[in-house]
Amino acid sequence: MGMLKLDQLKSDLKENGVIVIPGFFERKLIEDIQLAAKHIFQIQFDHLGIKGDFLAQMTQLFQEHLDTFISCGKLIQTGLIELYQLSVNPDLIELVKNLGLSKPLMCTRPMLFFNHPNLAMSEHFYKTPLHQDWVSMLASQDSIVVWFPLIDLEIGHGPVIFYPGSHKLGPLTDKLENGFAEVPFDRSAFPKLQPEVNMGDIVIFSTLLVHESGVITNNQIRWSSHLRYTNMEDVDFVERGFPSPYINKPSQELIDKYLHKK
Ligand SMILES: [Fe+2]
Repeated sequence: MGMLKLDQLKSDLKENGVIVIPGFFERKLIEDIQLAAKHIFQIQFDHLGIKGDFLAQMTQLFQEHLDTFISCGKLIQTGLIELYQLSVNPDLIELVKNLGLSKPLMCTRPMLFFNHPNLAMSEHFYKTPLHQDWVSMLASQDSIVVWFPLIDLEIGHGPVIFYPGSHKLGPLTDKLENGFAEVPFDRSAFPKLQPEVNMGDIVIFSTLLVHESGVITNNQIRWSSHLRYTNMEDVDFVERGFPSPYINKPSQELIDKYLHKK
């Protein structure tokens, strides 16, 4: 990527809080992550004798084997080797540094999402409300999210809706609900960006940018992923003592459930 283009991306990110970079990765690299994720589910479909197309299999697993569905989801969302490899991809890290994060560090685990109304107990599991990521992270002022689809997205998949410029408002709440910092926000006061990105394209946005899920209207699973980077040399982040509000710990309730399963 040429220096001129980088300067443009950097100033666009500062001004709009969001940039779209088409074709940053090879399509195959991204498709392989999607296939690796599906493969984890396939192991359980085979084990349980669940047949049909992928959505039908997923729906059956969700309806009849909820614990297994949730466990597949948890492990895929946070532990897929292919996704970890992508999150430290040298070209990506170079880009992150060139965008101004002089000492980047991943402040949350890489995340992978597969959203569909059939595969959720309630709406907030497949359609996130207007929110800012920063409030749940308290990361550097220049922290960013790298978001990308694992499929070719159409509007019917309900891609993320961004509100360019809204990052300049600063944090709009200090409350989390279901892990999300839902914010009061007037959609009509800002432009709206809902990019129909393809496999290989990436969207980078400020963690302060207001965004929300789009609406799934095509009855397909929306596969997407995000990676979050904070800047350990951001003066404000240093002065605040590197806050890290995420917790990840084992649950006695789940241990009891699995060990004493009848
Ligand atoms: Fe978000």
